[in-house]
Amino acid sequence: MVLAGILVLAAQLFVGTDIGSSFLSRYPGQYEKPEVLGGYPWWLNWAHFFNAFLMVLIIKTGIQIRRETKPEAYWTPKWNKKRRISLTIWTHNALDLLWVLNGVVFVVLLGVTGYWSRVVPTSWEVFPNALSAALQYVSLDWPTAGDWAHYNSAQELAYFATIFIAAPLAITTGVRMSGLWPSDKPNLNKAFPVEWARAVHFPVMVYFTAFILVHVILVFATGALRNLNHIYTGQDATNWTGFWLFVLSLIVIIGAALATRPVIIAPVASLFGRVGR
Ligand code: HEM
Repeated sequence: MVLAGILVLAAQLFVGTDIGSSFLSRYPGQYEKPEVLGGYPWWLNWAHFFNAFLMVLIIKTGIQIRRETKPEAYWTPKWNKKRRISLTIWTHNALDLLWVLNGVVFVVLLGVTGYWSRVVPTSWEVFPNALSAALQYVSLDWPTAGDWAHYNSAQELAYFATIFIAAPLAITTGVRMSGLWPSDKPNLNKAFPVEWARAVHFPVMVYFTAFILVHVILVFATGALRNLNHIYTGQDATNWTGFWLFVLSLIVIIGAALATRPVIIAPVASLFGRVGR
């Protein structure tokens, strides 16, 4: 708390100096983006919800895998009787497949519709502007949103890093540790050692968790009703529709998190292999 207080004071002092204020007027926190599309199409609203739903379950089963000393059940694929993984790893991987599918559809649609330019920096000006937006957050004089989908540069960099750096890192390191990786290719295994994958996969999960926390706190602290309408209904309105959809989505997510247990998962996993102790 003391450190946070010192940071806030230091940022406020800096912003109050001539150098600080001319930096902020030169870089207001976002740069000109004439080509950016406004609004949230229905597919983005859906992909965003399904992503949050899957991420909660993926993080939950990921932590479970690390903690598990004696799995309650194992799964053996129909096509490889020699392989055996815990039912928790099976659940984690099944969710990962859905998450990757959702992510690929999302990125392809971002690309073909032009919405990509909202989350991909298109100028080097993004860096000083992100610093400016960060300074404004830390000095507790938050950047005010302009256009309803023209993100400030700190937000743009965070979304870019999440979609185009953290997600691909999670996928490649996850595939390296999974049965999908061709373990009979020594050169390939040497080029990308499994130890690297293990060392990176967990910190990426920590990044996602921190991102989600800060992201949701900012959604609520910067006009909750309006923001929730953007991402749940695609409308720029200040009413309670988005909020109630958010509550409903939380009930669905918590319900699914409680339901990911062996009695419910085993019958599903049995469709693709043999489940036993
Ligand atoms: C239930 C929890 C969540 C809520 C309430 C929420 C809310 C929002 C809102 C309101 C926006 C639009 C921002 C604005 O209007 O300025 C947004 C955009 C975004 N969110 Fe979330 N979010 C949640 C979970 C997540 C998760 C788990 C991720 C990924 C790790 C994520 C990644 C993103 C991304 C990448 C965008 C930008 C989308 C684009 O414009 O293409 N969100 N979110």
